[in-house]
Amino acid sequence: MTNILLVTSSPRGAESLSTRFATEIAEGLKVRLGGTLLTRDLAANPPPYIAQAYINGRVAAPEARTPEQINAVGLAQQLVEEVKAANVIVLGSGMINFGPSSQLKSWFDHITWPGVTFDYSEAGGPQGLLTGKKVYLVTAAGGVFSEGHYAPFDFQTGYLRHLLGFIGLTDIEIVRVEGTVFGPEAAKAAIAATEAQVRAVLEKAA
Ligand SMILES: Cc1cc2nc3c(=O)[nH]c(=O)nc-3n(C[C@H](O)[C@H](O)[C@H](O)COP(=O)(O)O)c2cc1C
Repeated sequence: MTNILLVTSSPRGAESLSTRFATEIAEGLKVRLGGTLLTRDLAANPPPYIAQAYINGRVAAPEARTPEQINAVGLAQQLVEEVKAANVIVLGSGMINFGPSSQLKSWFDHITWPGVTFDYSEAGGPQGLLTGKKVYLVTAAGGVFSEGHYAPFDFQTGYLRHLLGFIGLTDIEIVRVEGTVFGPEAAKAAIAATEAQVRAVLEKAA
């Protein structure tokens, strides 16, 4: 059975293009593949910044955790379980100051967990443990980052691809919405280009 996890993270609410296209992909996949669809809206319910209760709590023996640590670790466990239960993850990210939103960063800070989602292998290098899943990553940005002068500054897509791969999510298909700040005509063309990408992704998945 296909279990789809849709993770949205833009703070721009209904105006968000990453949320719009990630949702279209997730819902389109559900129509085509069946199964379940769970949505984790990180903008509506942002995970807190990680703090000492989480950092110390996650390495403490469960029975030795303080109530504060139990809460902090419990949230991280829930977020990890959602990813583990999914075989398809659709992740929407809107660029904020050249990177992902703080809400999405905080989600990664909870799920990037030594011994749980990655480990250090015998060979010495880190090894991601969340393997065998497909990821559709929708990244939105006002500028153009797939090519040209700003390509070296795409800390959003590069960083997300790296973090996903670090925890074992290496099968990643990227859908971009970019170049939306150069006037209404450019925005229209950018959105049309993404709509075509979404159609292609769904046709391939069916
Ligand atoms: C606070 C803020 C910061 C932004 N920073 C950047 C940026 O550094 N580079 C860029 O190209 N666009 C930037 N943008 C534009 C957004 O990336 C663009 O609106 C994108 O569509 C946001 O994703 P979303 O539509 O999913 O919300 C910024 C927008 C906001 C609101």
